[in-house]
Amino acid sequence: MTEKIKVIMDCDPGIDDALAMAYVAANQDVLELLAITSVSGNQSIEKVTRNALDLSEFYGLNVPVAEGAHEPLVREPQFAGEVHGNTGLGNCVLPKAEKQVEKENAVLFLHKILSELPEGEQAVLVPTGPLTNIALLLKTFPEIKSRIREIVFMGGAAKGGNVTPAAEFNIYADPEAAQIVCKAGVPLVMCGLDVTTQCFLTKNQIAKLCQSNNEVAKVCGDMAGFYISQPYNKYKGTVNVHDAVPFMYLVHPEFFSGEKAKISTDCSEGVSRGSTLCDFRWWNYKEEEMNALVLNKADTEQFQQHLISAIYELGETRKS
Ligand code: BDR
Ligand code: CA
Repeated sequence: MTEKIKVIMDCDPGIDDALAMAYVAANQDVLELLAITSVSGNQSIEKVTRNALDLSEFYGLNVPVAEGAHEPLVREPQFAGEVHGNTGLGNCVLPKAEKQVEKENAVLFLHKILSELPEGEQAVLVPTGPLTNIALLLKTFPEIKSRIREIVFMGGAAKGGNVTPAAEFNIYADPEAAQIVCKAGVPLVMCGLDVTTQCFLTKNQIAKLCQSNNEVAKVCGDMAGFYISQPYNKYKGTVNVHDAVPFMYLVHPEFFSGEKAKISTDCSEGVSRGSTLCDFRWWNYKEEEMNALVLNKADTEQFQQHLISAIYELGETRKS
């Protein structure tokens, strides 16, 4: 039997974070989720922590939730209420979870979980929000890097942004944190807009989820329905499920391809703040200097099928 991949989800739920968590919950035969940590991003830390607790309990995920950074390292927080709504989950109201947030802050909690891994074992960090917690972890406990197999993150773009012409939201929100992660020497997989814009659900697929009797499908459909009603998505008629990409990459790497690059983040105040500079000129660098695999191609149909069936399967298992 192949070993499960130990993962930690660091997130700011967020509608696509919420769909990504459903995907994880349905794929626990491949992914062993050790913990969920929250970070200020799409909404305030109080709101995203609440969402992480409620979502994980709703999906039947019996994992600890620890609250992380209340704001970016240097910048003022800028929430994305216009995309994810005032609560962060559109109009969706989930039952309030009974489980409580961990007493320890996410950075200490991440350190604890990673250092308690059995000798020789490693975990994959999967950040789907700004990289604030991860940067703090790597700067505070540099020795913990040996326990991290890789950081597979949703963020950045080799070409064009969403929050500005140059930058993607998660990196724009905390560029300094992203730059710390780029320079950490831990292997990175960048699931940026280049690939996540190929990973979407259509209006019809969302409508079907909403009409279903399956409780998880309904909730995911409602949230995605809110997301698609936002001006940019409404115009396209599809909704990108960015945050599910790093997890699906771990479960089905064959659905994706990419190119090695040396990546860094623009921490200036100018128009390119938060852009990810991806240098693909391999001939200029030693192999270990090419710090990231930058995904740029996804099999859209496989992504849609696998995400949708994960959502339905989760609903079915929750019933039984
Ligand atoms: C990213 O920004 C957030 O609004 C989403 O949750 C996703 O993580 C996409 O740019
Ligand atoms: Ca997110």
